Amino acid sequence: KNSNELVLLGQKYATDDWTNVTPSIITKLGRNLHVKQYHPLSLLRQRIVNYFYGQFRSKSGTPSFSIYDNICPIVTVSQNFDSLLVPKDHPSRKKTDCYFINQDTLLRAHMTAHQAELISMGLNNFLVIGDVYRRDEIDSTHYPVFHQVDAVRLRTSDEIFCNVNDSESLKLFEHRGIESAEKQGCHTLEVVKIMEQELKNTLISLAQVIFGKDVRCRWIDQYFPFTHPSWELEVFYNDKWLEILGCGIMRQEILQKSGAVDRIGWAFGLGLERLAMCLYNIPDIRLFWSNDAGFLNQFKVDNPNAHIQYKPISIYPSCTNDISFWLPQDGSYSSQDFYDIVREIGGDIIEQILLKDEFTHPKIQKTSHCYSIVYRHMERTLTQRTVNEIHNQIGKTVAAKLNVIIR
Ligand code: PHE
Repeated sequence: KNSNELVLLGQKYATDDWTNVTPSIITKLGRNLHVKQYHPLSLLRQRIVNYFYGQFRSKSGTPSFSIYDNICPIVTVSQNFDSLLVPKDHPSRKKTDCYFINQDTLLRAHMTAHQAELISMGLNNFLVIGDVYRRDEIDSTHYPVFHQVDAVRLRTSDEIFCNVNDSESLKLFEHRGIESAEKQGCHTLEVVKIMEQELKNTLISLAQVIFGKDVRCRWIDQYFPFTHPSWELEVFYNDKWLEILGCGIMRQEILQKSGAVDRIGWAFGLGLERLAMCLYNIPDIRLFWSNDAGFLNQFKVDNPNAHIQYKPISIYPSCTNDISFWLPQDGSYSSQDFYDIVREIGGDIIEQILLKDEFTHPKIQKTSHCYSIVYRHMERTLTQRTVNEIHNQIGKTVAAKLNVIIR
């Protein structure tokens, strides 16, 4: 095998100085937890899909939304960012935030990456569901791979205004309009308000289907490069406000470039893990990746609407070791690189990494970081000796790879 080449999901990819996918991330490709029978993420996916099938039907009674849950997670920079009008200098494009295979190819950072292409194929109502990849800090609610459901609904003027008497005077677009907090320049205020209503009603009833009729919801204004206006939906659950999705009126430029010139659209993107953790009382995001029967068997139900509350089999103790080092003075250090190495070596027994202390020595002008690494195995008690071996290995590797000096 050529060392300048990676084989991912049966395809060859050239590597270059942008390549930062790690072996442990690569093992996640193809796991497809969102379609695995009886997996909690799959149960939740089915509930969301069923809601859309039931809610939106054509005149003949067939479901309007098509479902795509099997699209390859390896995408181009143009799919993930350019097609969605993400500015060239937007922080989400950075090497420290994404897993690149090479300069032009990455593991998708959101399911929205497929939006423009599916619209170009002529689709008007669709859900895209799959695994997404982001370099992130590590704790019980963050994992570098998670799952999203994205939705798009496009509508023509006729469809929107068919119930309005004097519909002649109502239009989707206006010329020389100006963009405001409420709308894009090219849209009329009346059509935006109708679309916003449908979007928000759809999402509130989805939240009610998942969390129960009485769930409290609130809307927060948001910004996304590909929608305007944009919002986030929060639900009040277990005594706190939980952000569950982002949404908005799609940028008309995306529709124009994809050939849907006579339509206006709304879109949203929702993360499955966070919802599933609340809904099923799952305390740690790493459990989704567990092959342990004690976890999986609790979700063996044929009705995806069954009420399930996960019961931890047992809680094993954690073990915390600290590591401190001087950073290189050329500015090349990034804590994301450190997190990746820790996870690469420790795998899923890494529960948390905390930056405990950061200081710059006044005389020598060198900066030092101290991190606490919390180790915990999901299925057994770790001995201090095992943890020390892994911890030492981490120390040696970061010294070699990140040019830091262990203190
Ligand atoms: N892609 C956005 C995210 O990952 C979610 C989103 C999708 C927002 C579609 C608006 C419209 O956070």
